[in-house]
Amino acid sequence: MKFIFKNEKETLAFAEKFAKNFRGGEVVALIGELGAGKTVFTKGLAHGLGIKERVQSPTFLLMKIYNIHPSTGSGHKIKNLVHVDAYRLSGAAELANIGILDWLGRPDTVTVIEWADKVVELLRDRKVIKIKMELGKKEEERKIEVIGK
Ligand SMILES: Nc1ncnc2c1ncn2[C@@H]1O[C@H](COP(=O)(O)OP(=O)(O)O)[C@@H](O)[C@H]1O
Ligand SMILES: [Mg+2]
Repeated sequence: MKFIFKNEKETLAFAEKFAKNFRGGEVVALIGELGAGKTVFTKGLAHGLGIKERVQSPTFLLMKIYNIHPSTGSGHKIKNLVHVDAYRLSGAAELANIGILDWLGRPDTVTVIEWADKVVELLRDRKVIKIKMELGKKEEERKIEVIGK
């Protein structure tokens, strides 16, 4: 399914709603150039999952784990959001080394991977929600395609 968002707020609102359908175990692969909105989309997902903490690009951490407090009352059993930025990773092996396999597909965890095309080997045989993001014609326009799910 394809969508066009006119500004950051629309992208955030969509991602927030999208996350409300999550039940745990989802792996979200975000693909798109720098500035396409992958981190903005992840922020929306985090809000949708009830995370109040500020979500930033984990570029220098590579992987960041947000714990979801049960009292957020968002009505799901998801306990963790794992946010990966693969931009600076050498590849799938490096991501495996920092422990992604402990998290991927865990029923109490949602995993979001920015630059997922850099670690395709890790995602190949898994159920993945692929989200392609592109800049639009206007400065604040973004085109998004959701594949799978
Ligand atoms: N429709 C939109 N959706 C998402 N971000 C947008 C949109 N319009 C403008 N922006 C801006 O584009 C930038 C996207 O940055 P970011 O999410 O960090 O990109 P990425 O993680 O893909 O490199 C932000 O500065 C954001 O304010
Ligand atoms: Mg980013």
